[in-house]
This record gives sequence, C-alpha cells and structure tokens, in this order.
Amino acid sequence: MKKVVSLVGARPQFIKEAVINEAVRNVNAWDHVLVNSGQHYDFNMAGTFFDELAIPSPKYNMGIGSGTHAEQTAEAMRKFEGILFDEKPDLVLLYGDTNTTLAGAITAAKLHVPIAHVEAGPRTYNKLFPEEINRVLTDHVSDMLFACTQLNVENLRKEGIERGVYNTGDVMYDLYIKMSGKLDPKAEMKKHGLSQGEYLVATIHRDFNTDDPNVLESILMALNTAIKKFNIKVLLPLHPRARKRIAEFGIESLLDDIIVTEPLGYLELMSLTQTARFVITDSGGFQKESYWAGKRGLLIMPQGWREITDTCWHMLVSDPLKADWESLFSNILKPFDYPANIFGDAHAAEKIVRIAVSNF
Ligand code: UD1
Repeated sequence: MKKVVSLVGARPQFIKEAVINEAVRNVNAWDHVLVNSGQHYDFNMAGTFFDELAIPSPKYNMGIGSGTHAEQTAEAMRKFEGILFDEKPDLVLLYGDTNTTLAGAITAAKLHVPIAHVEAGPRTYNKLFPEEINRVLTDHVSDMLFACTQLNVENLRKEGIERGVYNTGDVMYDLYIKMSGKLDPKAEMKKHGLSQGEYLVATIHRDFNTDDPNVLESILMALNTAIKKFNIKVLLPLHPRARKRIAEFGIESLLDDIIVTEPLGYLELMSLTQTARFVITDSGGFQKESYWAGKRGLLIMPQGWREITDTCWHMLVSDPLKADWESLFSNILKPFDYPANIFGDAHAAEKIVRIAVSNF
C-alpha cells in the first residue's frame, strides 16, 4: 500500500484536511499519515476543528508554534524532514498557502518526494501577502496541482505550469455543503443575544490590518460606525494577534459596543454567518464561505484574487484609512444578484483522491 503524508497546521488547513481525510478513508487505498505542524495551537484555533469535523488525531504534532516567518518555516522544515526520513512516503499532500505549506513543499521537494498541492493557483500578484510567496513557491515544486477554479488553472498556465494541473473545485465548498445540515443559527444567535439579520460578522487577522495602529483603529472605528449610524450589531470573533495588538495600542475602548468572542469553531461561525446581514473580513476562506452562505461583505485587503467573490459579490476595501465607510455600508446593504458558483460541485475531495491514487 502506498504511503501518503498530509501536512496541516493552521485553521484553514484543518478544514481542508477534514474532507480529504474522509475521502482517503473511503477509498482505503493509502496508508495515510497525518502530521500537524502546530502552527496554530490554542484550542479554539486548532483542537476544536479536530473535534467538530471528526478529523483523526495526527500521528505527529511538530509543535512549531509562533515566531517570525523564517523561524516558523525553518522549525517546520527541520522537524518535517525528520518525519519524512522516518516515514518514507510516496506522496506528500499540502494545503493552501501558510508557512506550514511552504515548509512542507521545500522539505519534500529536496528529498524528491512527489507533492500534491490542494488549492493551487490563486494569485494576488502582491508580495505583501506572505501567502502569495508561499503559494507561488509551493506551486512551482508541486507534481500534482489541484485548482479550485478555472482562473486558478489559467494563473498556473501563465507561469508555465501545465502538467499535473486539475480543476477539481474547492474542498472548502465540499465541507460547506456537507456541514450545512448541521448548522444551528438559532442556537448560536441565542448564545450571543442576536436576532436574524440585525448583525454583521467581522474577522480581522492579517498583519497589514492588525499591526499598524492607525489601520487597526480605523477598522474598529468603521465597525462602530456600522453600530451607531446603521443600527447593525457587530460580532467580532477575535484572532489572538488582533487581541494582543488592540491591548498594545491601548484602543480597547473601541470594543465597548462590539460583541467580542474568542475565535469560533467551524459550525459556530458558519451558523452565525447564515443569519448575518453581511460580513467584514480579511480572510480568503471566510470570503468564500460567506459567499456560499449568500452573504455579501467588505474585504479589507490591498488586493483580491480576481474571482467573483472579490470582484463582484463582495466589495474590496484596499485602503481602510481612505475608505468612505458610510457609503460602503450603504452599498453593501443593497440587494444584489447572486453570481453562479464557480467552486465546483462539492465533490472536489473525491476527485482529488481519485486522481492522486490513479497517478502514482
Ligand atoms: C495563518 C496563515 C494565514 C491563514 C491564517 C488562518 C501564514 C503566513 N499565515 O495566519 O495564511 O489565513 O493562519 O488563521 O502562515 N497565535 C496564537 N495562538 C495560536 C495561533 C496564533 O496566539 O494558536 C498568535 C501568535 O501571536 C502568532 C499570531 O497569532 O504570532 C499569528 O499566527 P500565525 O500562525 O503566524 O499567522 P496567522 O495570522 O494566524
């Protein structure tokens, strides 16, 4: 039996692993070894996803934790290399674009272990995103590239990558459809004292939004504008880095009127999104999930991926310091035609596993 090592480490990768892991179990063709880098380690950033998405316990937890980009990547490479020496896999499966992904890619490529990259091909063409660097480098050393959309296939082709590229659809969409029967918006709203349509959900975690005091303050002030001028409640599940920075910058008072929670689990966040009015986010994953939930939103990031989720359904706020928030809120509240889904047929994981099994 062929041996496949899957490497995960951060929230979005646990989500992707959940459906791939199930698809692998269903074909029963591989010895599947799960490795967690430990990039995310707080229970509500990591453990909760394993529990609610029924992901089997990893065989290895590398415990790399936080650090600078180089520290995190180097530590993950050093430890992952040892695991590859011990396990001698036939294939390494990597997900998305985190530092864990990059570490896995460089390590496996140098040991000549074939790499399959799930979610290959999105491009912002902006190196301000560490994820852009991680994704480009990973794509260029991968042997099988599983793209979520046709645009991602095109992006890869423009960089000369044509062999081993498959448009399978998005495993995150598989999970969204699979879990939609388990969502319980009523119960979740009750926990936070919310009612349908009277609130927005905001998530902010990227360094360009959290690490500059002026930018972070302007985003929190915008959330207060939604509350005061548009009578919309704000639910803010707070990433640990954003929480730390808000304390460091002494701007906690801007949270007084906001419903602040710890980071939410998958089912909690998806439930609360279903009954939200709209969302505000800098997360690529939540951008897609809110679109599948039929909710529009404002994306606070310098650049999008040029997919319908950022060019049409959501609105890009490329510079929060210069944004006219009142007019953005007015626009996002207007009715809008829902653009057709481009993220596949909710069978991406099955396709990925079938293709990978038949290719080696
Ligand atoms: C990482 C990924 C990003 C992904 C996001 C999902 C990179 C470069 N970025 O960003 O692509 O969208 O995960 O959430 O890999 N921290 C804790 N506890 C934790 C995890 C993090 O306190 O369990 C704090 C630490 O201060 C850490 C900071 O959050 O330094 C940032 O964490 P890190 O994993 O480096 O990046 P994310 O912003 O979470």
